[in-house]
Amino acid sequence: MNATAASPASTATAGKTVDRIELTRPDDWHLHLRDGDYLPAVLPFTVRQFARAIVMPNLRPPVTTTAMAIAYRERILAALPEGTEADSDFQPLMTLYLTDRTTAAEIEAAVASGIVKAVKYYPAGATTNSDSGVTHVDRARPALEAMQRLGLPLLVHGEVTDQSVDLFDRELAFIERTLAPLVRDMPGLRVVMEHITTRDAVAFVESCGPNVAATLTPHHLLMNRNAIFVGGIRPHYYCLPVLKREVHRQALMDAAASGNPKFFLGTDSAPHARHTKETDCGCAGCFNAHAALELYAEAFDRAGALDRFEAFASFHGPDFYRLPRNTGKVVLVRERWDAPDEYPYGADTLVPLRAGEPLQWRLAQAG
Ligand code: DOR
Ligand code: ZN
Repeated sequence: MNATAASPASTATAGKTVDRIELTRPDDWHLHLRDGDYLPAVLPFTVRQFARAIVMPNLRPPVTTTAMAIAYRERILAALPEGTEADSDFQPLMTLYLTDRTTAAEIEAAVASGIVKAVKYYPAGATTNSDSGVTHVDRARPALEAMQRLGLPLLVHGEVTDQSVDLFDRELAFIERTLAPLVRDMPGLRVVMEHITTRDAVAFVESCGPNVAATLTPHHLLMNRNAIFVGGIRPHYYCLPVLKREVHRQALMDAAASGNPKFFLGTDSAPHARHTKETDCGCAGCFNAHAALELYAEAFDRAGALDRFEAFASFHGPDFYRLPRNTGKVVLVRERWDAPDEYPYGADTLVPLRAGEPLQWRLAQAG
């Protein structure tokens, strides 16, 4: 007979196979929903499992003002799956895209709006639609000082854009050159280092006060950089920051399973049309929203840490963002299924993470 966990805490029992996990409904603290015809293609995947999501602002044009964030939020609400708009409790939590020209007044307006929950710092040129990002942290000082004063979190894409730095070392270089000095100079600034990929980032976040936290993606918990090159080049495993060595993956998994409230769930689900990834200069980003919780469950299960899953997925994020924890539940069951080869994506198609390959867990119930 299989042991069934009434709650993740009971999965700690050594030696028993857990086939059912019940969690407080989680949130996704880092998500790309895109816009236009792409938005309704991906939104339902998130809504079925998460109550809230921090929505990235790297659209074209980027969401640089509160007025743009309000309009984008309306488009998201209008794109909620049929029948759920009225009763869905899904809440998009909006972000602003920081530029060299973001003013303190814009930050004040963002906080006053009540709908902007954070500001995203893309180093200019670091990743998808980051051209309008920050060229030097000093240029963003007025906005950062207002954020420190008002308690609005800064979400950081932590990679230098200096092409002379090895691609695999760009996160560490960003910590040394930009993030550590920033945290030192602005000790009251609340910072989330997004999608961390190295043991250096884990150590840095651990070394800071409680105002500095990090999100972890399912792909960085499950895979190392070999995944990009299995039998040939695998564009659907290419994201930024890029997957790193196994030693880093292990450090990330240890952090996620540590129970430390600084580490929480952020999928970085980043859809791109198939043809824009399967090309001579493919886009960075992995789409994982079709199976995000299932992939995280697999990572925690492999690490023997299912008893730590709920806090990572459902408690640490809202606690950091000073929002209430959710009250609903979701249930995952151990059940093998194959991810589809592709999904429709507007007029295009989208290749999900693990396309055509088995997943070990299935979301059975959400409410
Ligand atoms: O892989 C990535 N994709 N990393 C990012 O930082 C951006 C994202 C996207 O928007 O596609
Ligand atoms: Zn992202």
